[in-house]
Amino acid sequence: MEDRVLIVDDDQGIRQTIRSIVEDLGYACDTAPDGQEALGLVESRRYLCVFTDIMMPRMTGLELIKKIKARDISIPIIVITGYASLEIAIDAMKCGASDFLPKPFKMSQIQILLNKMRREKTILEENRRFSDTLQLYRIIDNLKGQLEDKAREISSLKAISEKIVSLKGIRDLVGAIVDVSKQLIGNSEVKFYPVRGLPEPSRDNGPMPELQVPDELLAGKIVRVDNSFLDGERHFQTLFPLTIEGQVFGALDVRTETLLDEEAETKILYLLNRSAERMENVALYEGLYENILSTLRSMAKILDARDPHTSQHSTRVTNFSIAIANALGLSAEERDVLYIASSLHDIGKVGIPDSILLKPDRLTEEEFTIIRKHPDIGADILKQLPPMYRETEIIRHHHERYDGKGYPAGIGDNEIPLLSRIITIADAYDAMTSDRPYRKGLAVGMAVEEITRCAGSQFDPELARLFLHKVIGVF
Ligand SMILES: [Fe+2]
Repeated sequence: MEDRVLIVDDDQGIRQTIRSIVEDLGYACDTAPDGQEALGLVESRRYLCVFTDIMMPRMTGLELIKKIKARDISIPIIVITGYASLEIAIDAMKCGASDFLPKPFKMSQIQILLNKMRREKTILEENRRFSDTLQLYRIIDNLKGQLEDKAREISSLKAISEKIVSLKGIRDLVGAIVDVSKQLIGNSEVKFYPVRGLPEPSRDNGPMPELQVPDELLAGKIVRVDNSFLDGERHFQTLFPLTIEGQVFGALDVRTETLLDEEAETKILYLLNRSAERMENVALYEGLYENILSTLRSMAKILDARDPHTSQHSTRVTNFSIAIANALGLSAEERDVLYIASSLHDIGKVGIPDSILLKPDRLTEEEFTIIRKHPDIGADILKQLPPMYRETEIIRHHHERYDGKGYPAGIGDNEIPLLSRIITIADAYDAMTSDRPYRKGLAVGMAVEEITRCAGSQFDPELARLFLHKVIGVF
């Protein structure tokens, strides 16, 4: 069934704008001019989410949020807001709104919001299959986390610019802005300064007039300075503001022999505007990624809490896996993927009933069949999250065997992703050496023997050797 979105705003123009964006993105859409009509629609149809204005005649957006939430707490509500009304947006989050859409609207922002709602809906549906307690824990955890995150996010929009400057992606972008500007204007000297760092550039650049942050720049205007009374080749300086979320976050300092003409200024402005959009997206995306990760980690914690005997299992498997990766000399990027995949390798066990997962006796063949579904369940959960596509496959194959006799796919050898083969060894070693309710863990020597015996059948023989020599310290 197609996902349907409801837009509530007394301004017909705004309703139409959001509607056409939402429909272009492939969603069905209803609109309502006020809260009364919106409530009628929510009664009669199921919505992926509701976008609502705050200031409306007859019923305010806040009242509408409360009424919808009283009826069905799971419908996400997004508040349409201007930056002038951040306080109101915070109030709305307290009433149960899950996000906010700042004016003016951008297609990319609406798309990110809708993707997020769709993913959360899928996770929620997935969760309905899990035990009630688990679902309750997760929803509470999630809502609490969301509320805290969002309240922080809204009330500290200023901090966003500081935060994004530390992101690797953003740094690369800044480098690209400088390079492209140099290409656009030949024979120029171009530097980028975060606004707070403005007085610093003189150090590595010889004598330069000290830069003050001019008020016009802070107001988002281009500043042109004639320094021709000074010695030096490039007498003209043009400072361009880089504006993100309405706030000046940095300045591009261009030094040239002659004053820049209008065409050159326009090109640089265009470049800066596009970069600012990109930076906003990177920041939003990274924020989203972090939220997803923290949700998954809390799921993993709930999972660990179900079985006290395995409570540290994921952590130990992660530590062993990373130690193998270090011994192999894998790149930082590979290690990041491995870190997430190994911490969440058994996440699919949230779909296995307690009666089987915690059974102290031997499992029946039928019960084994159910347990064997956990790599696929885990992969299916992560599959909903586009940034996790590599982790998804690694988790799916963490119970394959080198000889092809494992599950779920029965692939072998190098067909199994390298990172899955690493997790398999770490997982098996930890399972052998830790205590279980019905047996004590094996001594290290016996576990080493077992790994050696199964190298080439269950385990990748090279990795098994590496693990024993470099990680466990057996020679
Ligand atoms: Fe597993």
